[in-house]
Amino acid sequence: MSLLALSDVSVSYGPLTAVRNVTLEVGQGEIVFLAGPNGAGKSTLLRAVAGVLAPSQGKITLAGTPTAGLRSEALVRLGFTLVPEGREIFGSLSVAENLAIGAYLRRDRDGIDEDMDFVLTELPALKPRLRDPAGLLSGGQQQMLAIGRALMTRASLIAIDEPSLGLAPKLIDQVYDILLALREKRDLTLLIAEQSFLRAVEVDARLLMLRSGHVVGSGKARDLAAERSLEGSFFGFEGAAA
Ligand SMILES: Nc1ncnc2c1ncn2[C@@H]1O[C@H](COP(=O)(O)OP(=O)(O)OP(=O)(O)O)[C@@H](O)[C@H]1O
Ligand SMILES: [Mg+2]
Repeated sequence: MSLLALSDVSVSYGPLTAVRNVTLEVGQGEIVFLAGPNGAGKSTLLRAVAGVLAPSQGKITLAGTPTAGLRSEALVRLGFTLVPEGREIFGSLSVAENLAIGAYLRRDRDGIDEDMDFVLTELPALKPRLRDPAGLLSGGQQQMLAIGRALMTRASLIAIDEPSLGLAPKLIDQVYDILLALREKRDLTLLIAEQSFLRAVEVDARLLMLRSGHVVGSGKARDLAAERSLEGSFFGFEGAAA
C-alpha cells in the first residue's frame, strides 16, 4: 500500500485551476520530487496534500485514509508534515520554542525529549542557538530549524517546499545530506518540491514534473534525463541551483 496516493487531483483558486489531474503514489521510504518552474503548481499541490486547500477534484489518501475534510492537525496525527515554502519560522520566538511547536500535538513527554535530543544531534548547528530568536539564524540554519520542527511532529512523511530556496550551493548540499541521512535513520518518506530537476537526478529519485499545472513527465528522474525529455519540459531551468 502506498503511504500517499493522489488520484486525478485538481486544485483551483476560484476560477483558476492551478493543478490539473495529478495521479501519484509515494511508497514508504521513497523520495519523490515535484519539479517545475514558477507557477507550475508545486506549492498548490503540497498545500492540498497538507489539507490547507481542498482539491476541486480527485482523491488523496494518506496511510490508507482518505484525507477529504481532514484539517492539517488531523494529517499531522496521521504522520504527515509540510515544511512550507519560505519555512514559516517564528522569528521572534527562540529556536527551542520553534522546535517545541512541532511537538504541540504530542503528549508523550519522554518521546518528545528523545526527539529533541535526536534533532540536536542530527542538526548540530541548532544546539548553540537554542535560546536565540529564530529570526537571527542564517537562511541555512532556518532551513535546518524548519526540518527539525517537522521531525518533532514524529512525521513519517515530510513534504518540503523548495528546501534550497535562497541558499548557497554548499548549504543546499548540506541540507540534502541531512535529509538523506534522516531518511535512513528514521525510515522517512520525503516529498520535495524544487524548481530544478537536477537534485532528483542526483539522488536517483522519482520525479513528477509540472508545468502550468499540468503533469509533463513522471518516472525515475535518471530515466527521464536519459530520454532528454527534461530539458524540453524545463527550458531555461537546466542551470538552476538545486
Ligand atoms: N493564493 C492564491 N490565489 C490565487 N492564485 C494562486 C494562489 N497561490 C498560487 N496561485 C496561482 O496558482 C498557480 C500555481 O502557483 P504555485 O504557487 O502552486 O506554483 P509553484 O510551482 O509553487 O511556483 P514557485 O516555484 O514560484 O513557488 C500560479 O498561477 C499562481 O499564480
Ligand atoms: Mg511554490
